[in-house]
Amino acid sequence: MQTITTKKALDEFVSNCKSENKTIGFVPTMGALHNGHLTLVRRAVAENDICIVSVFVNPTQFNDKNDLANYPRTLEADAALLTEAGCACVFAPTPDEMYNADEMTNRFEFDFGGLDQVMEGKFRPGHFNGVVQVVSKLFRLVRPDRAYFGEKDFQQLAIIRRMTKLMNFPIEIVGCPIVREESGLALSSRNALLTPEQRQTAVHISAVLQESTQFALETSVGELHDAVVAAINAKEGLETEYFDIVDGDTLQSIERWDDAEYVVGCVTVYCGKIRLIDNIRYK
Ligand code: PAF
Repeated sequence: MQTITTKKALDEFVSNCKSENKTIGFVPTMGALHNGHLTLVRRAVAENDICIVSVFVNPTQFNDKNDLANYPRTLEADAALLTEAGCACVFAPTPDEMYNADEMTNRFEFDFGGLDQVMEGKFRPGHFNGVVQVVSKLFRLVRPDRAYFGEKDFQQLAIIRRMTKLMNFPIEIVGCPIVREESGLALSSRNALLTPEQRQTAVHISAVLQESTQFALETSVGELHDAVVAAINAKEGLETEYFDIVDGDTLQSIERWDDAEYVVGCVTVYCGKIRLIDNIRYK
């Protein structure tokens, strides 16, 4: 596997693949790779001639300086895992290689069509501007045929689909199901920041979501919402930031189960200081 750190070297690598008519599968990541990422990578390897993975902790999508500083950075271990998974090239640039000073400081403008006004967008202002900024830049550099994203970041996936359409990228966006530990905990790079006790506590989030599917459609949306929030918060060490039951396509909250055909419950919970997200499909 090649490790590339400059845009120029990446362009040469990609141009070579294109001249040989090889298809490219791309997995953008911020590193600290776990089995969830590796599931995306293995799929990209299986479905394309060449798999490229980016490892870049994107500063413009962090609205909290401490979160950016504390984000785990484990490039050596990541590279070993990627080699084993069959990835052909890892692109790991520095922030200076990716951005000029203006791009670092000015918010990247994008017409989200309201997708950024809810859930993560409401609690992390500017976050999705940074995500669209970096992913559109990476798409231009990597020029993939397919790009793979996890459904755990449900809102991000919807926004990336919109961006791909609006910016006319000829790229197939492949959404992949959440990968969970045996305990049910959704895999996340942030899990590495949990103490062993917090890890046990965090399992409660997915357990509550899973249990809620059993009575979801028999109670009102409002009652289900309140029951889920109460059940999560009842566990010491957990505090729900939001739980939204939304139309899976528009991400707008629904009031009745009949309001949408595809319904997903999206939650963000603080486990101590660590912010965890998860979601579950109801319909
Ligand atoms: O999901 C992530 O890890 C990031 O938001 C992404 C898509 C790699 C952009 O920095």
